[in-house]
Amino acid sequence: MTESGAQPRLPPAPQAVVQSLTRAAIFLVVTINPGEESCVAVRSFCGDLPGLLRAVGFRDIEANLSCVMGIGSEAWDRLFGGPRPAELHPFREIKAGARQAIATPGDILFHFRAKRMDLCFELATQIMNALGEAVTAVDEVHGFRYFDDRDLLGFVDGTENPTAQTALDAAYIGEEDALFAGGSYVIVQKYLHDLDGWNALSTETQERIIGRGKLSDIELDDAVKPSFAHSALTTIVEDGVEKKILRDNMPFGKVAEKEFGTYFIGYSRSPRTIEQMLENMFVGRPPGNYDRLLDFSIAKTGNLFFVPSATFLENVGDEPPPAGQELSDPTASPAPAPQPVSKGDGSLGIGSLKGDSES
Ligand code: HEM
Repeated sequence: MTESGAQPRLPPAPQAVVQSLTRAAIFLVVTINPGEESCVAVRSFCGDLPGLLRAVGFRDIEANLSCVMGIGSEAWDRLFGGPRPAELHPFREIKAGARQAIATPGDILFHFRAKRMDLCFELATQIMNALGEAVTAVDEVHGFRYFDDRDLLGFVDGTENPTAQTALDAAYIGEEDALFAGGSYVIVQKYLHDLDGWNALSTETQERIIGRGKLSDIELDDAVKPSFAHSALTTIVEDGVEKKILRDNMPFGKVAEKEFGTYFIGYSRSPRTIEQMLENMFVGRPPGNYDRLLDFSIAKTGNLFFVPSATFLENVGDEPPPAGQELSDPTASPAPAPQPVSKGDGSLGIGSLKGDSES
C-alpha cells in the first residue's frame, strides 16, 4: 500500500516471449484489410486474445500453449497512432550479390507454441474466426521439433540461446523506452534450403559453415573456426559485452515437394542487434566474408514486428486513441525488469525457461 492507501501499480506484464522450447509451433502472418472497420475489429480483438488463449490452453494446461502477437510498423500507425515504440520500422531489406534478405507483406504476427500441435491449430483457428473479414493471411508455417532439436540441415539449433535472467534482459524492453517497457521486437524469416546441395558437402565443411560439431554440437575451437562461420558472424560484441537475442527456429517442410525449411524467429529488446547479425550474414564481416549457410538457404519472407506487453493489449479499446494519448499508463512503472508470471492467471504471462519444466 502507498501512503494514500492506493495499491502500488504493477509493472506491465509481458507477452509470452521467453518460453521453454516446445514440440510444435505455428507462425501466422496476416495483413489488415483496408477500411477503418478492419482496424476496429483488430483493436477489439486485442482485448479478447487472453480469453481465447485461456479457453484453448486450459484444455491441456501442461501442454503450455502460448501465443505472441506482434504488430508491424504501418499497422501500428493504422491501429494505434499516438506514441510509437522507439525502434519500430519496416523490415530493412539487404541485397548483397545473390544473397537477399527480402521484405514481404505482414501487419500482424501470431507465434503459437505448445507441446501439442492440436492446441496451436485450435487457437489459430479461433483467432482467425474472431478476426473474420478484418484480415488476410499471407503466410502460415507449421513447425515441428526435429531430432535432438536439430534443424533440417542436421545441426542442433538453439544451443547458445540465453536462459533465465539473461533471456529476460535480451528480450524485453526496459527503461530505454519506458512507455513500452515489457515489449519486445521480433524478426521472422522463412528460409528454404537446398538440402541436396548441403548434403553433398562433407561433414567437416558443414561444421566449418555452422561453427559447431555436427554430432557433438560442441563449438569449434577458435583455431579452426572460420571467421565466416554462422556462429561467428552472429556473435555481436559491443563494449566487451555480447549482445544476445532469443531464437526459437523451427523446421518445416513438404516432403513430396522437396521443400525443406527453417523458420527463423528472433526476439530482442532492440531490432538493431538482429539487423546487425543479418548484415554480417548477408553482406559479410568484413564485407565479402559472408555466411556460407546462405549458399544453401534462400529467405522467402522477412518481417519486423513490435510485440507490445500483454497489459498494453488488454487495455486497447475499439476506438483509435486521440493523438498523443497513451494506451498503457507510463506511470505504471519507470522501467521494471519484467518478471515471469504464472500461466492461467488471466494474463499472457511468460512461461518457464527451457529445462525448468519441460517434460
Ligand atoms: C537458415 C536459417 C538458419 C539456420 C538453419 C540457423 C542455424 C543455426 C545453428 C545450427 C546454430 C548453432 C547452434 C545454436 O547456438 O543455436 C545457430 C546459431 C545462431 N544463430 Fe542461426 N540459423 C539460421 C538463421 C539465423 C539468423 C537469420 C540469425 C540472426 C539474424 C541467426 C542467429 C544466430 C545466433 C545469434 C546464433 C548463436 C551464435 C553463438 O552465440 O554461438 N541465425 N544458428
